[in-house]
Amino acid sequence: MHFNMPSHLRSVALVSLFLGSAVSSPFVYHRRPQLQQYLGPEANQNPSEPTEPYDYVVVGGGVTGLIAAARLADASYSVAVVEKGGYYEQMTGNLSEVPGYTELFDNSKTPPRDEVEHWWEVAGTPETNNRKLNFTGGKMIGGSHAFSYFGYLHPTVGAMQKWADDVGDESWTYPNTRKFFDQSMFFTPPNDTTRWANATPEYDPSYQGSGPLEITYPRWAQPFSTWLVRAFDALGVTHTLSYATGELFGSSWILDTINSTDGTRSTTWTAYVKNAPPKKKLDVYTFSLADKIRFDGKTATGVDVTRNLPDEPEEKFTIQAKNEVVLAGGGILSPQLLLVSGVGPAATLAEWDIPVVLDKPGVGQNMHDHIVFGVTYRVNIPTSSILLDQDTRWQHEDLFKENVTGMLVNPGPDYGAIVDIPSDLRNFSAEVKQDLAALPKDWPELIIVGFPLGHDWPNDGNYATLMGIPMTAKSTGHIELQSADMADKPKIVPKWLTSRTDLEVSVASLKYMRRVFENPALSEILASDEISPGTEAVTWDELEDALKSGYRSMHHPAATLRMGRADDPDAVTDSTGKIMGLDNVRVVDPSAFPFLPPGLPLAPAFMFAEKITDNIINDQKKKGRHGKHRTDL
Ligand SMILES: Cc1cc2nc3c(=O)[nH]c(=O)nc-3n(C[C@H](O)[C@H](O)[C@H](O)COP(=O)(O)OP(=O)(O)OC[C@H]3O[C@@H](n4cnc5c(N)ncnc54)[C@H](O)[C@@H]3O)c2cc1C
Ligand SMILES: *[C@@H]1O[C@H](CO)[C@@H](O)[C@H](O)[C@H]1NC(C)=O
Ligand SMILES: *[C@@H]1O[C@H](CO)[C@@H](O)[C@H](O)[C@H]1NC(C)=O
Ligand SMILES: *[C@@H]1O[C@H](CO)[C@@H](O)[C@H](O)[C@H]1NC(C)=O
Ligand SMILES: *[C@@H]1O[C@H](CO)[C@@H](O)[C@H](O)[C@H]1NC(C)=O
Ligand SMILES: *[C@@H]1O[C@H](CO)[C@@H](O)[C@H](O)[C@H]1NC(C)=O
Ligand SMILES: *[C@@H]1O[C@H](CO)[C@@H](O)[C@H](O)[C@H]1NC(C)=O
Repeated sequence: MHFNMPSHLRSVALVSLFLGSAVSSPFVYHRRPQLQQYLGPEANQNPSEPTEPYDYVVVGGGVTGLIAAARLADASYSVAVVEKGGYYEQMTGNLSEVPGYTELFDNSKTPPRDEVEHWWEVAGTPETNNRKLNFTGGKMIGGSHAFSYFGYLHPTVGAMQKWADDVGDESWTYPNTRKFFDQSMFFTPPNDTTRWANATPEYDPSYQGSGPLEITYPRWAQPFSTWLVRAFDALGVTHTLSYATGELFGSSWILDTINSTDGTRSTTWTAYVKNAPPKKKLDVYTFSLADKIRFDGKTATGVDVTRNLPDEPEEKFTIQAKNEVVLAGGGILSPQLLLVSGVGPAATLAEWDIPVVLDKPGVGQNMHDHIVFGVTYRVNIPTSSILLDQDTRWQHEDLFKENVTGMLVNPGPDYGAIVDIPSDLRNFSAEVKQDLAALPKDWPELIIVGFPLGHDWPNDGNYATLMGIPMTAKSTGHIELQSADMADKPKIVPKWLTSRTDLEVSVASLKYMRRVFENPALSEILASDEISPGTEAVTWDELEDALKSGYRSMHHPAATLRMGRADDPDAVTDSTGKIMGLDNVRVVDPSAFPFLPPGLPLAPAFMFAEKITDNIINDQKKKGRHGKHRTDL
């Protein structure tokens, strides 16, 4: 049995077929375009070593870092962003821009590329059937969102209530965070002249938003998804009005972060900076690694940086922060930076001779992640496999460029069902039942999405997969330093499927996805028996084995700098994102989530960065008022 394509088939160079002559060498540094114009009138592209401090130094120019940087610069502060990678327009041609090309990046299937990805090889364990797996993250302006899928799903009301309860701060409930979700995005209704009648999304027309990122339904729908609508209807799954209302149960077309005008991926880079009004002083240091946070006692004062611009000698300098250092490196690199800077479990720091700034046991612990696995059939409807044919690919490129439609405006996974495992498949042990009963009632067990993507299947037809992403995420792992140097990769120990709850829910999920394919509503389009995991896997134990040999990570590291109450010894940040016990250092990325909420992390990451940056600005205003008050006296 196999989830992955047999290696003798993979030897067909499908990726290069796809790219053909279209993108000659996608991962070299292209010298166009000039991006200086998108920063501020007083900003520099590749600024020289700074002599003056900035008000804020943001570490990481990814999803959350650019939100923090843009909001701070809009509030008239001077801001430096330190980003290890380059601009994706220069690094990857149009691979990050055209939604349909996401598949070519498909992480975890194609090997990671050093130029645009941070990656870490994870050792095999019994829960992976001893497979090594690569874990990855973006290394570009725009961060992981520059090559990930980009579905937009909110968590649930109950999950956010749990968040508020866990951290002891009611500002984290869904109603209270809603304004921060809304100020990150605006919604464009679907274009019903370009989508088929049987692909009409149901949505709440009052849903608007007032922020920079555009959220919409792609102007072309996947044929497979129109069949899934019928299958989930036949199984009695109700419809939900998109997944952005605080309720997740039901089936729906999936919202994406897409620019509806030109069809390209909308990211925090394009929406908050490139296509937004220029900021007065926003400097972006690309190809620059923040090696260490500088402290004066327990107060952060700036970061030490190593810059390696292409074709330039290496430079080392310090960027000082007058107000705060803002961490936005993501769930792996933010805790690593704190550890190498002396903030973490004292024993770990001693092991690497790192002088202790603050003994903080929770740093790098409590890592949450989502996993994903599939059930695949051959189908007799068009999937992205048709793009393996050169004429068809050119036709869709023209449709994209001329009319912003065709298969390339759609990233692929565009219809989903979010469910609990049905009662007759709940062969769960007592401990698992108890664990599941403790989740908020509206916290779903499983997301299923259609995945009609063909580039890693043989070029002999069309293949469609249902991908299952368990939402329980009870297994927690950690990261470990392998040296005191930020440039060395840490070891990641995700401990996927070590929770019995995650394991049993995952096996039951495979059974449920089989049931979807076996529904008569899909029989017309199936052109084979089940290919993966394969009809040989029948019993619970065989399915468990197939699961362990087939799943991969969704690359959603979170909660490694978990937010919590002041009296919680393992919590790292307070409910405003400050590292407890330090001054002037704040976390705006999902490492400070208290847990990984149900849904997918992008939408809550946007909300989180907006909300914590609002805290930063308000705290600074208070300090300012306080200062003024004193001089007035
Ligand atoms: C392959 C993949 C697929 C995903 N799929 C989905 C999905 O389908 N849906 C979804 O909702 N979410 C998805 N995600 C998750 C989502 O992308 C993340 O939750 C989100 O990007 C988190 O934002 P961030 O700002 O924490 O990190 P990122 O966006 O990863 O940005 C971090 C940036 O910081 C830089 N950086 C880090 N440390 C340093 C340092 N010390 N010095 C200089 N630069 C540094 C990195 O180079 C990077 O560019 C996916 C992620 C990956 C990797
Ligand atoms: C992407 O870029 C390549 C190389 O420039 C080009 O051939 C292709 O048509 C582009 N695709 C789209 C959809 O614009
Ligand atoms: C991880 O990625 C690296 C770099 O692309 C590759 O050499 C290695 O084989 C990959 N390992 C696994 C287990 O896929
Ligand atoms: C919908 O698509 C059609 C065809 O491309 C286009 O003419 C029309 O302007 C679009 N409508 C909206 C509201 O964008
Ligand atoms: C969408 O694309 C158009 C055309 O490229 C651009 O003018 C606009 O600013 C973009 N919108 C956003 C929100 O990035
Ligand atoms: C784009 O739409 C126009 C008007 O409907 C049509 O004439 C043209 O052929 C379309 N372009 C492509 C590449 O199909
Ligand atoms: C129920 O689950 C257990 C493992 O938890 C498994 O051994 C058993 O075979 C399963 N029974 C059925 C009917 O699937």
